[in-house]
Amino acid sequence: MSTVSAPTRLAPKNPIRWSNSRQGGRENALDSIKLGIIGLGTVGSGTVNVLARNADEIARRAGRPIRVASVAVRDLAKARSCATAGIHLTTDPYEVINDPSINIVAELIGGTTLARELVLAAIRRGKHVVTANKALVARHGNEIFAAAEKHRVIVGFEAAVAGGIPIIKAIREGLAGNRIEWLVGIINGTSNFILTEMRDKGRAFDDVLKEAQALGYAEADPTFDVEGIDAAHKLTILAAIAFGIPLQYESVYVEGITKLEAQDIVFARKLGYRIKHLGIARRGADGVELRVHPTLVPMRRIVANVDGVMNAVLVKGDAVGHTLYYGAGAGADPTGSAVVADIIDAVRALTVDPQHRVPHLAFQPSTLAGGVPILPMGQTETAYYLRLQAEDRPGVLADVTRILGDLEISIEAILQKAPSEDETHVPVILLTQRVQESAMDKAIAAIEALPAIRAPVTRIRMETLS
Ligand code: NAP
Ligand code: HSE
Repeated sequence: MSTVSAPTRLAPKNPIRWSNSRQGGRENALDSIKLGIIGLGTVGSGTVNVLARNADEIARRAGRPIRVASVAVRDLAKARSCATAGIHLTTDPYEVINDPSINIVAELIGGTTLARELVLAAIRRGKHVVTANKALVARHGNEIFAAAEKHRVIVGFEAAVAGGIPIIKAIREGLAGNRIEWLVGIINGTSNFILTEMRDKGRAFDDVLKEAQALGYAEADPTFDVEGIDAAHKLTILAAIAFGIPLQYESVYVEGITKLEAQDIVFARKLGYRIKHLGIARRGADGVELRVHPTLVPMRRIVANVDGVMNAVLVKGDAVGHTLYYGAGAGADPTGSAVVADIIDAVRALTVDPQHRVPHLAFQPSTLAGGVPILPMGQTETAYYLRLQAEDRPGVLADVTRILGDLEISIEAILQKAPSEDETHVPVILLTQRVQESAMDKAIAAIEALPAIRAPVTRIRMETLS
């Protein structure tokens, strides 16, 4: 008969108590893990509902039950979209964090000031943390992960990017053998929902945004969604774990969907494209491109057909080639799914030697490449859709093509709308081949200076995703 001794482990700060309820049995049952949640809105309620609905399956996966012990909210009287019986409710988040019996804290309030303080406080108290807060991770992640490593806890942030899609785990672990070359994503559900409804149903921007807010998709400040800030937060996180660089939100080029006009959606369709709001991260010889903007994508690409609140991330690795991840990008249950996955990871982490955990940003912290330059927008290269309001007379188009030709910008297609009787200026659409943004800036300035062109020229970037 052989005896099996327990492996030597570094003592976790919140040791799990083994119960003797099955003395003499083949296995020991563990006490349930006590979870504290701060915030019980869309994501908090979704998390509680998923934990309750799938409690048995989750316990089988985690190795022990997970119990929501304490939750902090702003307003105790507010009706909730989840059951709260048996949960201690408080308006003081520190009551949750300071409770020594709580092993894991989920920060689900949003924002970056209080959320940062709470997350750092929980880390200092030796608790594992789970957050859905992309703004927090993108802006303060370097500080938070350093603190987590110091205090030997993990900070899970799967729900921070692409809602229910397990994209962090896919890139950080599933693609760990690859050199990631680029990734492109529809990573804001609200913007994608708005663009889809405008295109398919001709609905007004503001009307669709209100619906996205009512459905719980939008951020507390929806300008984060429609001005591309939320997508930039997510792209910052994706780029860090894909390329092994520190989080650098300030270096992302950001453009939202608010300046898009319905006529551009129509012209794009006529030319075989759809306009999608994309986050793009690509590494080249000179540095990394990080940009978020509306983009024309050929209609035949899967990404062009990702509609509504759905998100998709296309990742190109040198070994695996292209991989595509698709799913709900926002909403209570899909985001709850991602939060719960992190909670289960945190439960498992309670008994794992901290030195052998998956690094927060996929690469060992000491190997993060801080010196890799993020390219200024002028140095990035892409194809373009240009819409000009041109005077309807001979020679105007020749002037425009001469400007482009002088800057070695090749034209792929031209579309000109026939003028109606009272129109003096007509829209002219030009699709160009790939060129450096700095050359296109010069071309647009020269075109706008032509007397026959009414400024401004509309520019939308194009990607073939091939
Ligand atoms: P939400 O619906 O507005 O919920 C926020 C919750 O935080 C509310 O329950 C609120 O309490 C509570 N809260 C706010 N300040 C508080 C304070 N000082 N003390 C205690 N509780 C406080 O927001 P959400 O949509 O769930 O988003 C939460 C986080 O998840 C954000 O970081 C967001 O970016 C992220 N996220 C959201 C989604 C989504 O689909 N909505 C998806 C992925 C990630 P009351 O209810 O009492 O007001
Ligand atoms: N407001 C975000 C979105 C929530 O619409 O994508 C999910 O991160």
